[in-house]
Amino acid sequence: MTNILCIGAGYVGGPTMAVVAKHCPEHRVVVVDINAAKIAAWQSDQLPIYEPGLEDVIRCARGRNLFFSATDIGRHIAEADIIFVSVNTPTKTFGQGAGKAADLQYWEKTARQIMENSSSPKIVVEKSTLPVRTAHAMERILNSNNNGLHFDVVSNPEFLAEGTAIRDMEDPDRVLIGGRETPSGQRAVQAIVDIYAHWVDRERIITTNLWSSELSKLAANAFLAQRVSSINAISALCEKTEADVAEVAHAIGTDSRIGPRFLRASVGFGGSCFKKDILNLVYLCECYGLYEVAAYWEQVVTMNDYQQARFVSDMVTAMFNTVAGKRIALFGAAFKANTSDTRESPALAVCRALLEERAVVVMSDPYALDNARADLGEAAEGVVFEPDPYAAAEGAHAIAVLTEWPQFAELDYEALHASMVKPAFIFDGRNILDHRALFAMGFNVYAVGRPPLTSFAS
Ligand code: UDX
Ligand code: UDX
Repeated sequence: MTNILCIGAGYVGGPTMAVVAKHCPEHRVVVVDINAAKIAAWQSDQLPIYEPGLEDVIRCARGRNLFFSATDIGRHIAEADIIFVSVNTPTKTFGQGAGKAADLQYWEKTARQIMENSSSPKIVVEKSTLPVRTAHAMERILNSNNNGLHFDVVSNPEFLAEGTAIRDMEDPDRVLIGGRETPSGQRAVQAIVDIYAHWVDRERIITTNLWSSELSKLAANAFLAQRVSSINAISALCEKTEADVAEVAHAIGTDSRIGPRFLRASVGFGGSCFKKDILNLVYLCECYGLYEVAAYWEQVVTMNDYQQARFVSDMVTAMFNTVAGKRIALFGAAFKANTSDTRESPALAVCRALLEERAVVVMSDPYALDNARADLGEAAEGVVFEPDPYAAAEGAHAIAVLTEWPQFAELDYEALHASMVKPAFIFDGRNILDHRALFAMGFNVYAVGRPPLTSFAS
């Protein structure tokens, strides 16, 4: 039996360890977190995050070989052979690198906590996304202990996307494990390979040196985000030229060299990773004096900010240049469908911008309203949170679809139209609705990357 510990029971730590525990019944897996309320939720029937399939995996392993704890973290560290660290690494808001660099204070604190509570050698696994060469700092902190203990640091970045986290863990495209090219480093890599080999084919487990693994995570997210910004850039041009971005995406995506995925034009990308990881990459490049490389990647974020700002300014322009006092129903708060997560959600950016325009904003989402309220902070006071989309749209001048929840496509838009102020507007920031049908019902329809369908002469 191996004692596996995970520090950080968030969107990454919780689902990842649940799947590890499910497939490795002979190992004992403990997940700890400084947030006692979150741990209590992991121990209950009301899990702290919404993730399809998660409940089944938790039910299978919890209490058998999967345990959650907010207490005795020191003892759990002492007992562990392998420690995954998945504490958050937000963008720094102060000092050097503010707004770009990763804030590594939780990481360093965790490394010291591991060192102070260890009396046997351990493998420490970087699960959080980190700047390249963080493992080097980790090694130096951990191996500065006075007991002569040796720690091996391994990088094993997560590639799971929220909403499909369980599927991504169960059937990953690949698992990446990076380690030192020393005998002990290679033994540590092998120990992590052996865990994943319980359910992942060996040929899909890639092993590299530490730095390639750390950098691959940042690069993968930068490439994915770049595709979204690229298609969004094209969407702006489509709106001016009567091209249709869905047709363009299909036409270019069928080229097998380009491929069809991540080409959905939208109101912009969100989530805890894309922006943070790109800014991290940008900061890293700047630190190494690679200013052109930094500027290249920063443009992906600039484009995303532009896409969100453009969406709002198009709304205001379409609605006769003012939305002050007008009720606007926002369909969606989550940064994508099938998650309750609202971190960096374009829906919140749109919400804030509309509040500045003094609109009356009503937000509707099947799972993410509590997080939206918390993330909006003081701005939440000006927002009505309404789980029922029909109630949200009643008396509204406009609906804006901001999350691609499939249930939004299935609503009775005739009924919605009947309850709205005329002329009624729909802004489909995810292109999930049947625009022609909506236009036929009487809506003025604005989509991303398509000319609008309106009853007014432009
Ligand atoms: C986070 C980052 O967003 C992601 O980039 C990284 O790859 C992994 O960590 P996520 O799991 O989504 O991913 O973060 P979050 O849901 O905030 O979970 C982190 C958890 O760590 C929180 O529950 C927090 O309470 C906990 N934590 C933080 C500790 O247990 N100890 C600490 O010192 C700091
Ligand atoms: C991402 C990576 O996919 C994952 O591998 C990594 O580990 C964490 O970061 P996540 O942020 O959960 O995962 O979601 P993802 O599916 O990548 O979507 C990110 C954002 O891009 C969402 O706001 C989504 O709506 C948007 N998006 C995605 C588009 O606008 N268009 C697309 O075609 C695809």
